[in-house]
Amino acid sequence: MQPNSKGVEMLAHFHLDGKQIPFQPGETIMQAAMAAGVYIPHLCHNPKFTPHGSCRLCTVRLNGRPVAACTTPALAESEVENSSEALQQDRRTLLQMLFVEGNHLCPGCEKSGNCQLQAVAYFCGMLAPELTHLYPQHRLDASHPDVVLEPNRCILCALCVRASEESDGKGVFGMRGRGLGQYLAVNSTTGRLADSELHHQDRAVEVCPVGAILPKHKGFEIPIGERLYDQKPISVVGDLADHRQAQGER
Ligand code: SF4
Ligand code: FES
Repeated sequence: MQPNSKGVEMLAHFHLDGKQIPFQPGETIMQAAMAAGVYIPHLCHNPKFTPHGSCRLCTVRLNGRPVAACTTPALAESEVENSSEALQQDRRTLLQMLFVEGNHLCPGCEKSGNCQLQAVAYFCGMLAPELTHLYPQHRLDASHPDVVLEPNRCILCALCVRASEESDGKGVFGMRGRGLGQYLAVNSTTGRLADSELHHQDRAVEVCPVGAILPKHKGFEIPIGERLYDQKPISVVGDLADHRQAQGER
């Protein structure tokens, strides 16, 4: 808080693409932008969980320097660039890499229309992958009676890891390895979901932004074309409601 000329306490602010954004002490650029209803593309960020800073899709320029908006504290009087063509091109490249590193065959995926990867790609104008597909062949885990894990769609955002630890109090998932060898591991004696503590109502099941973790026994309950991001772009519906709820819960 800063006092104005009349001694009234004012929130500090920064400029995001020229728009004045107020922020509370300790808030990140992402939190302040979300509170102001401004969308910064992101994948590994979910306002209900500890920021992870791994996907780098939220990279903005803070006074000319690239930083992750989800982990960088807002700075009073700073200039933040979010929507330049150069940043959007960087995001398209990152998205292209995510698409070719996994098997994201949208027309056959139950998550299509509710998938954040698909929706952010549309928002950033990524129309077709231009890189070579790697076609990974990780083994699908359908051992659990109520949940299926399709690791070939996992974007390694670690949201299920954080949700299982922070919300479900379990630690069912963990990240292992580095670089292209990084993978999502299941914490059980056999490494199978069936032998883990996972319950189909866990937050870790519901939080996956793509179709890597899906509940069984239901499919296409909402027809394609009528799903969340079929109706409106992610910049409008996104997780701003989650942000408001997270603020209220703090
Ligand atoms: S399974 Fe889903 S939530 Fe978990 S790391 Fe992979 S993409 Fe993220
Ligand atoms: S959303 Fe910030 S690094 Fe992923």
